[in-house]
Amino acid sequence: FSVPTPVNEPVKSYKPGSPEKEAVLQAYETLWNNPIDVPLYIGSQRIKTGTTRKMTAPHDHQHVVGTYHLAERSHVEAAIDAALHAKAQWENLAWEQRAAIFLKAAELIAGPYRAKINAATMIAQSKNIFQAEIDAACELIDFLRYNVAFMTQIYADQPKSDSGVWNRVEYRPLEGFVYAITPFNFTAIAANLPASAALMGNTVVWKPSDSQVFSAKVILDVFQEAGVPDGVINVVFGDAQMISETIFNHADFAGVHFTGSTHVFKDIWNTIGTNIYKYKTYPRIVGETGGKDFIVAHPSANVKQVVAGIIRGAFEFQGQKCSAASRAYLPKSLWPAINDLLGKELATLKMGSPQDFSNFITAVIHEGSFDKLVSYIEKARTATDAEIIYGGTYDKSVGYFIAPTVILTTNPKYETMETELFGPVITLYLYDDAEWNNMLHLVDTTSEYALTGAIFSSDRYAIAEATTALKNSAGNFYINDKPTGAVVGMQPFGGARASGTNDKAGSAMNLLRWVSARTIKETF
Ligand code: ALA
Repeated sequence: FSVPTPVNEPVKSYKPGSPEKEAVLQAYETLWNNPIDVPLYIGSQRIKTGTTRKMTAPHDHQHVVGTYHLAERSHVEAAIDAALHAKAQWENLAWEQRAAIFLKAAELIAGPYRAKINAATMIAQSKNIFQAEIDAACELIDFLRYNVAFMTQIYADQPKSDSGVWNRVEYRPLEGFVYAITPFNFTAIAANLPASAALMGNTVVWKPSDSQVFSAKVILDVFQEAGVPDGVINVVFGDAQMISETIFNHADFAGVHFTGSTHVFKDIWNTIGTNIYKYKTYPRIVGETGGKDFIVAHPSANVKQVVAGIIRGAFEFQGQKCSAASRAYLPKSLWPAINDLLGKELATLKMGSPQDFSNFITAVIHEGSFDKLVSYIEKARTATDAEIIYGGTYDKSVGYFIAPTVILTTNPKYETMETELFGPVITLYLYDDAEWNNMLHLVDTTSEYALTGAIFSSDRYAIAEATTALKNSAGNFYINDKPTGAVVGMQPFGGARASGTNDKAGSAMNLLRWVSARTIKETF
């Protein structure tokens, strides 16, 4: 199984005057001024149904950058048929051929499509260039490259044989089709969910988030140019409920690869359970959902590291990461120093359009999200057990802008210590230094989620205590770093409890869910 050794794609700097900065600004201008019209992708057909929705930029919600066409039930059925039709040829293609397609896709993004996919992500998802580069370029390239290596590790895992007997395992794709439901917040995740299942020989029906169709179109262009055959990844847009209902009713539904909200995932699980007698096989259910991710600082923590962890963990990409830090437990002894530095650092952050590379914060994804965040901010403003100490301002006249907001509470179970907000808001709770162990218990029992968390300390006993006490509180646990930014091939990513099935994106564990192995014993 000889494949290129995967290397993580280096993050470009986008310094003033750099060629990558010029290229991305030019791509931004082009995309901004030339609206696109995105059809459904069903087999070899590109279907314009005539029922469309507009795509706008969250930081300038009156500016239309394109339209996309909505599927009716018959289109979803046609997409399933196309996936099933393409399956026989695709699954019988040698793995090297499938690998070559996705390795080529990685190279296309690393080179000719890099500026375009970054610009599309900046426009449609309002990521600043650095967040776009980490996601739409580097993480996506890493997923594509590493998945090929993980695939060969899986294929290489073979049982022992005996004299006169040859035992072997065939890692077949699932029988049927896979359904990928993807979120707005990571272009890399949007591409990886259909691509990882397809790499393992499956064919897919993909439903991207309404807020990510614009960058999904670039992914589709890349896949097409890389040589993904028609019917392997079919794409439908529109009414999520109707699309899912049609898919979950189908006898050949074989698995769902989901990233999105907890309540949608629980509904999916429920629907699949209700329909279980209809299916030929038990469907694989793989989901990565919400988080209420924590930062814990021990009195021995380095204040600079804690403040950097809060700011980067909570506010990069406006906190719209399932991994974003959204509750922090800080020792009273360190609070004056942390507060001082936090205030100074927050005062330096600029907010505005991603087109200006000096803006750290841009807009949240849409009006629904903006309104929800504002309601929590307003509740905190009048609460008796919480106060807003930084930010708390917002404006949706041009784009959906919310200033990085810090709530300080005296109640460790205050609403925003428990509820996922998915925006640039973090809530802090100050604990008595002597209450360290009780505080760890609070961290573990305050939220239904268990996605990411971080401990800051220079005391090895404290680190060990936290690592043990919080062993079920986070699928990704960071010591002296922010709880975001898992790198493919380095920190396999995923959480348990209400955060998902913990099938670790960026590892062979995830790809194993897209195969159904056959054991063969041959006696001579
Ligand atoms: N994988 C992303 C992170 O770690 C969500 O922040």
